[in-house]
Amino acid sequence: MRTLIITLLFLCATSITTLGAKLPRFGVDPVEDVVAAMTLEEKVNLVVGTMRDYIYFPDPAPGMPMRTEGFVEGRPGTAFSEGRVKGAAGDSYAVPRLGIPAIVMADGPAGVRIDATRQGQEATFFCTAFPTGSALAATWDTAVVDSVGKAIGTEARHYGVDILLAPALNIMRSPLCGRNFEYYSEDPLLAGSMAAAYVRGVQSNGVGATLKHYAVNNQETMRNGVDAVVSDRALRDIYLRGFEIAVRESFPMAVMSAYNSINGTVAPENKYLLTDILRGEWDFDGFVMTDWWAEGNGAVQTAAGNDMLMPGTWRQYDEIMNAVKDGTLDVKLLDRNVANILRAFAQTPAGKGLSYDNAPDLTANARTARNAAAQGMVLLKNQNNTLPLAPGKNIALFGNSGYDTMVGGTGSGNVNRAYKVNIHEGLANADLNVDTNLKAAYLDHIRLAKADSKQDDVWSITVADEKIITTDEALRAARDNDAAVFVIGRMAGESADRTLAEGDWFLSPTERANLDVVMTAFNNASKPVIVLMNMGGVMDMDDWNHIPDAILLTWLAGQETGNAVADVLTGKTSPSGRLPMTIARRYNDYPSASNFPHSTNPGTVYYDEDIFVGYRGFDKADIQPVYPFGYGLSYTTFDYAGETITPHRDGAITYDIDITNTGTAPGAEVVQLYNLAPENPDTSRFTAPVLPAKQLVAFAKTRVLQPGETQHLTVNIPADRFSYYNQATKSRQTIPVNIFRK
Ligand code: BGC
Repeated sequence: MRTLIITLLFLCATSITTLGAKLPRFGVDPVEDVVAAMTLEEKVNLVVGTMRDYIYFPDPAPGMPMRTEGFVEGRPGTAFSEGRVKGAAGDSYAVPRLGIPAIVMADGPAGVRIDATRQGQEATFFCTAFPTGSALAATWDTAVVDSVGKAIGTEARHYGVDILLAPALNIMRSPLCGRNFEYYSEDPLLAGSMAAAYVRGVQSNGVGATLKHYAVNNQETMRNGVDAVVSDRALRDIYLRGFEIAVRESFPMAVMSAYNSINGTVAPENKYLLTDILRGEWDFDGFVMTDWWAEGNGAVQTAAGNDMLMPGTWRQYDEIMNAVKDGTLDVKLLDRNVANILRAFAQTPAGKGLSYDNAPDLTANARTARNAAAQGMVLLKNQNNTLPLAPGKNIALFGNSGYDTMVGGTGSGNVNRAYKVNIHEGLANADLNVDTNLKAAYLDHIRLAKADSKQDDVWSITVADEKIITTDEALRAARDNDAAVFVIGRMAGESADRTLAEGDWFLSPTERANLDVVMTAFNNASKPVIVLMNMGGVMDMDDWNHIPDAILLTWLAGQETGNAVADVLTGKTSPSGRLPMTIARRYNDYPSASNFPHSTNPGTVYYDEDIFVGYRGFDKADIQPVYPFGYGLSYTTFDYAGETITPHRDGAITYDIDITNTGTAPGAEVVQLYNLAPENPDTSRFTAPVLPAKQLVAFAKTRVLQPGETQHLTVNIPADRFSYYNQATKSRQTIPVNIFRK
């Protein structure tokens, strides 16, 4: 009889009443009414994700053994949810009684991460692998990033994903952070603007986007346990600034709290960050979820303003339930979180009851990926106009990653794509003749080297030992080809930082020897050597930067990497990418070097460089890098004219400029506007202890201009870009406007 009543309620929930009271309906009635109608169990179910029967053990403390992960039998009646979309990172509990559907969340920054195949189904569910975060930021083009966000959002929408777990915008504090490939920049304005563009793109599909990882998650070493000790000023001006910009400019549906602690409190328990700043100051009106299996107490997290705990554990469920029952957690706080979640869920496709067809336009999205990839590549060196290469040239392609190209990093930022275009394939597609002997030798070498390794997966991609190039091979190649293209590849991924070692930060001895052999052979034959850096971040270049004729930083540019590389090498696309991070002469020049990945105590990192992160630190110490932040060459030249700076009453500035392509190739130009610190600050009026010598306050990119063509750019710079956070007054304080264009 009871079952019958429940079934009837379920079928006609809007009109059927329980004990005379009409049940409110999610999506129809005010959220407050829905929350009021929920039982305590339903509320706790909603705030804890569904993956509760999976046992996950975070990385053990140094020296302790790894514990194995796996599934345990769940509690009766609460079977583990496989979710609606296979391979999605998590989902929420449905409450059918009130019309609350299950919401699906999937990674990630470079494309939707779901399983490509499903047991018993012939259909495939591939997603496009777009350029990773650093490559996107290097476009300095919010329109390109918006187009990528839109395309990723359409795939999410077609595959039934409601909330995308991206973008990731942590500051690149150290070049060794393992997830820098997912992140945007060492500069908060560039990072925040890119994130905002991405969010707008994703959310234009009605799919939610998630800013992550909030905040100060700048390393993977001990990522669950590390405590970042950072001043309020550095928090406000550097580490939170990008999040603030993205929240204010793009209204993301969700924010994911980080794993680490900030000044002694783990991010998901950090009320100061989650409630006081995020909601209190920035008016964030979405919901906050934890990062997966984050440390901390469910009840404390709930009280701190961490609305949802993902992917959910029974421990968290019990902690919240018991705390409400024993009065240590005010149920009003739980209700507040439930309401935050439901308000956001109501805007998602499932929340609106929309269906989906599993049929995204992967062909159109691959075009978007290729365009973004080419736009982000950074030409670092081009002596004697080595590039572009004319079609029909014979190319000696060296380096494993020319043949087994790295297109994305490992971990949650990986994408199950249908294919990847390796560099040798991209060159061939563009009518460049790749030396067939070298190609055969490399493909054989890679096949043999990988023969015994397990199949690549999300968490590990096997990288074969670099093939040794013999002098004979190099001499023969130099005789038969017009140019050498020498690829250096670096893989990186979630859960480990990169190492200050040969083969990672430095060239490996084999790579170094190969470069010398190739350089000597091609130099002697008066033929150029072009180096491609196929990696998500940067590496030591001081040792070898002087050697090649041209250097192109290709990044991990997604499944179309090979084609995009060819677009740039042949001049189909003139390079217009700019560095979103500094390439130092020595690792120790990075301001974070002495406090990364920890200070004297493992587990604590003192952010002693304070606000002087990246170029701000190089400027302060007056250290020349190999290539500075914002650097990048083009195949054409530009002229600037009619620069006008118009101040407004509220402190905002309008900047106008005419940019003309004065060269012979079509190309796009990036305008970077920095504010310079006054040389002699008037300390009575202006009490900043120290200001960075310069800081980025705005940037803009032209469209592709034909030779002779001019574009007028108008850049509006909000007043708060000319300010710093004053710790004493706990408020932003204005600094004088002194704009410098780069
Ligand atoms: C990562 C997040 C990701 C989540 C879900 C975590 O390991 O840090 O960025 O969204 O997993 O896959």
